[in-house]
Amino acid sequence: MSVTGSNGATRVAVVYYSATGNVHKLASAAADAAEKAGAETRLRRVPDYVGESPAPEFTEWNRAWEEHREAVKDVPTAGVDDLGWADAILFGGPGRFGLVAAPLKHFVELAWPLNTRDGLVNKVMSSFTSTGAPHGGQESTILSLNNVFYHWGAIIVPPGITDEIQRAPSNGNPYGVSSVSGRQAVPGRLAENVTDDNLAAIGHQVRRMIEVATALRRGFGEDLPR
Ligand SMILES: Cc1cc2nc3c(=O)[nH]c(=O)nc-3n(C[C@H](O)[C@H](O)[C@H](O)COP(=O)(O)O)c2cc1C
Repeated sequence: MSVTGSNGATRVAVVYYSATGNVHKLASAAADAAEKAGAETRLRRVPDYVGESPAPEFTEWNRAWEEHREAVKDVPTAGVDDLGWADAILFGGPGRFGLVAAPLKHFVELAWPLNTRDGLVNKVMSSFTSTGAPHGGQESTILSLNNVFYHWGAIIVPPGITDEIQRAPSNGNPYGVSSVSGRQAVPGRLAENVTDDNLAAIGHQVRRMIEVATALRRGFGEDLPR
């Protein structure tokens, strides 16, 4: 399906928070896949909303956190206008005690005025995550994001098991692509446990979103409110 209509290409925003690079790696792969699929794409990071580490005593984690902060300083930061602009929005954040990391939660709260103006209605949305452990709360993290989308009147498009790549050993979460970092953060080797299959799966997840968003634009006569 072509993603271009008379009203221009389908617009995708990949909005994510990452402290030590795992979610960043997945988000970057998603943005690359969206561009290749012909979507107009914005990769946008949500910064830490407090300028200090949550655990200064964890020296190695802090070095990894600083290394990642330096590595991504040129990635534009997310604004609520990016949410208003997009037809499809893929959100990613690490699991923290089974919930999405606080900076991303803080960011979605900034969308309150846009939500009040119905500015998020019928946009296609989906979530992904990275956690330290395979049973460390991937589903609950993703659902904590998707729960917000219900409130916004968005249309949630999960990856399901709609492609063979979801059957790869490091994939399989139908709620949203999820990587397992194992070691929490090793300076000099950030995001080393994000697998090529994870990266391929996030490509599938975002292409599926584009397909549905493009079909919806056609269905709504390409007059989907932006
Ligand atoms: C405060 C905090 C809480 C965390 N809670 C969990 C958790 O509940 N389950 C889990 O598996 N990993 C947990 N982790 C580990 C992260 O989810 C994991 O390292 C993730 O891969 C980090 O992604 P990032 O590199 O994009 O920041 C936690 C990490 C931090 C800093």
